[in-house]
Amino acid sequence: MKHTGAIIGYGGMAGHHVRSLEGYERCRFKGVYDVDKKRLEAAESEGMTAYPSKEALLADDEIEFVLIATTNEVHKELAIDAMKAGKHVICEKPVTISSAELEEIIDASKKYGKIFTIDQNRRTNPDFLLMRKYAENGTIGEPYVIESRVEGSRGMPTGWRTIKALGGGMMLDWGVHLIDQLMHMVNGKVTNVYCRMYSIQYPEVDDNFRLTLLFDTGLTAHIEVSTNNYITHPRWYVLGRTGTLQIDDWDCKGKIVRNTEKEDIWEEEIVYTKAGPTKTMAPRSKNSTKTIVIEDESGEPYNDMLPVYDQFMDAIEERAPLKITAEQALRVMKVMEAAFRSHETETAVNTNI
Ligand SMILES: NC(=O)c1ccc[n+]([C@@H]2O[C@H](COP(=O)([O-])OP(=O)(O)OC[C@H]3O[C@@H](n4cnc5c(N)ncnc54)[C@H](O)[C@@H]3O)[C@@H](O)[C@H]2O)c1
Repeated sequence: MKHTGAIIGYGGMAGHHVRSLEGYERCRFKGVYDVDKKRLEAAESEGMTAYPSKEALLADDEIEFVLIATTNEVHKELAIDAMKAGKHVICEKPVTISSAELEEIIDASKKYGKIFTIDQNRRTNPDFLLMRKYAENGTIGEPYVIESRVEGSRGMPTGWRTIKALGGGMMLDWGVHLIDQLMHMVNGKVTNVYCRMYSIQYPEVDDNFRLTLLFDTGLTAHIEVSTNNYITHPRWYVLGRTGTLQIDDWDCKGKIVRNTEKEDIWEEEIVYTKAGPTKTMAPRSKNSTKTIVIEDESGEPYNDMLPVYDQFMDAIEERAPLKITAEQALRVMKVMEAAFRSHETETAVNTNI
């Protein structure tokens, strides 16, 4: 059975949902409401119904679920209105602009008995899955540091992302994905958060940030989002006890260098290197490491939306519980709030998240 949905907020990301679901068997979008008339006209020209108001969309009995893909400051109000009108909801990230708002959504979801999920579409990105595989399968030993970075030098796009009240800034825009990936992967609590934010281009919002999270498993996560880096770091850099992993970019090109379990014993005499006399920083002896080239293994053109919609449809059809839940998003929201607090107070914030 094909489930029928509608969209509130038909901008760039909503268009991505529609295109990604072309040919998808389990659901379709019947129509759209947007405050911008031009976006309604665009929806109509693509064969969808243009609803004259949010109320008209929510009054359509054929609509079972609503995708909310507006700017972030109205996600809460729209999600609650949709669930009150009897619709299930899939909401774009960041789910809300505060944890208090998300708690209201969770209450509404329980009250009206409606499913609420979030488009955390980066949990299935090939680069993340590849890093996770090697971090978890023992190739580099137990990981103790994971560095996750998304960097560019072209600044932030103009528009709502530069306005704080609309939920702008890179922490809410990209931080939410990178934190979600690691909290999804690590089976432990975040016990400490330290963050520095920078407003290089737009004074109102963080257009760059550096964040460090400590987990109670002993893992340290370092997350950076930069819009002003003219020389970039690798997408992933992971230190394990017996090896190091690096994934360079979205193409998933990278390598692992790990020890071969052959002993690399220091000679008695002093070791001279380009760094001067130092044994610590001297190159390893030959054959004591092995390099493994890694690359994208999926082999398939990647569609980030299908796993998100599959789990949503499974929940609607009562086949399986949601995989992307509001409770998970609440933890991520709380970490982001701790990051803002850390930046404002110039201290590391102890947490139990
Ligand atoms: N998951 C991802 O990878 C990803 C990527 C990009 C954007 N997003 C998210 O998608 C959402 C939209 O981002 P975008 O880049 O498409 O922005 P956008 O500006 O292109 O589109 C937003 C649309 O919402 C409309 N809108 C605003 N307030 C409204 C309201 N009250 N009622 C109806 N329509 C309203 C605007 O007119 C606009 O057409 C944001 O929450 C953003 O964070 C997610």
